Amino acid sequence: MIQKPVYILGIESSCDDTSASVIYNGKVLSNVVANQEVHSKFGGVVPELASRAHQQNIVPVVQQALEQANVDKNQLSAIAFTRGPGLMGSLLVGTSFAKSLALGLDIPLIDVNHMQAHILAHFIEEENAKIPPFPFICLTISGGHTQIVKVSNHFEMEILGETIDDAVGEAFDKSAKILGLPYPGGPLIDKHAQKGNPKAFQFTKPKVGDLDFSFSGLKTAILYFIQKQVKENPNFIEENLVDICASIQHTIVEILMIKLKNAVKQTGIKHIAIAGGVSANSEIRKRLQLAEKHFGWTTYIPKFEYTTDNAAMIAITGYLKFLNNIYSDIGITAQARLKVTE
Ligand code: KG4
Ligand code: ZN
Repeated sequence: MIQKPVYILGIESSCDDTSASVIYNGKVLSNVVANQEVHSKFGGVVPELASRAHQQNIVPVVQQALEQANVDKNQLSAIAFTRGPGLMGSLLVGTSFAKSLALGLDIPLIDVNHMQAHILAHFIEEENAKIPPFPFICLTISGGHTQIVKVSNHFEMEILGETIDDAVGEAFDKSAKILGLPYPGGPLIDKHAQKGNPKAFQFTKPKVGDLDFSFSGLKTAILYFIQKQVKENPNFIEENLVDICASIQHTIVEILMIKLKNAVKQTGIKHIAIAGGVSANSEIRKRLQLAEKHFGWTTYIPKFEYTTDNAAMIAITGYLKFLNNIYSDIGITAQARLKVTE
């Protein structure tokens, strides 16, 4: 059977990355991401500055995505965009742009749930890509979410457990802030941790439901620990940075692994995927690989470029919806809050 060519333009603007991607029949032709440097000195994303930067970036980023893909806008089959969850001011830029472009080109508009897209990034067709079979378990770990999701089909998902307070990305970023590292601190903790001793300092793990998470206590424990040590030795952070980072990272990853083991025990499902920005973390990637050997799991680890926010994951979700004729009404609005199941 000859497959009809399907070109999807994906647009992502939920937080602080403006991204556009063109996908052709499930394969990525381009995935352009413009990061916003402006937030690093504030220790977190400033929503007003994020939406202004999206406004500046959106046209050149989309143009670059089309150019890199060598695709003319008139060849596009549909426009997919992030409807939510995310920062409202940021979402509005991508949503309005996607609607206008779809109207102008007279092609279908497809709304995408950002959290579903992180998971469905596993369905991007690439050479040697390992695509998870249904049902599988996905540990979704990002700056805003921490969930264990049972994925029964592309659009049939169930939250088995989630954080009751901070997301795991926040735990990384807030710990980094305590250590005086710029935002986003997650990748920096990862970098320093590679040179440190993960057993140097101990932090207690939270006691919550078998499949739930809590990170706010850990953040407070780290804060008190650092304050106490700095009182005794003002150079404590500089002298022990790599060991502190390794110990924090080890504690967080240990928590994630315990919860995944609980999920496998409860569901009997041994196909385990990770998704979201924190799935870029080198230790969680390593521990998952080891789990194949130690626990007999089959694990699915996304390529680096599809871990943190990107439009390729929006475009692939749009493609899967397009194949199922799932389109949006032009009157659709952005949603700051949206569950992975919505
Ligand atoms: O998925 P994402 O790009 O945005 C959200 O949807 O939230 O995730 C961003 C989060 C940030 O908290 C960032 O610090 C974290 O992912 N992150 C990492 C690493 N790379 C990104 N955390 C730990 N280790 C990393 N290598
Ligand atoms: Zn994200």
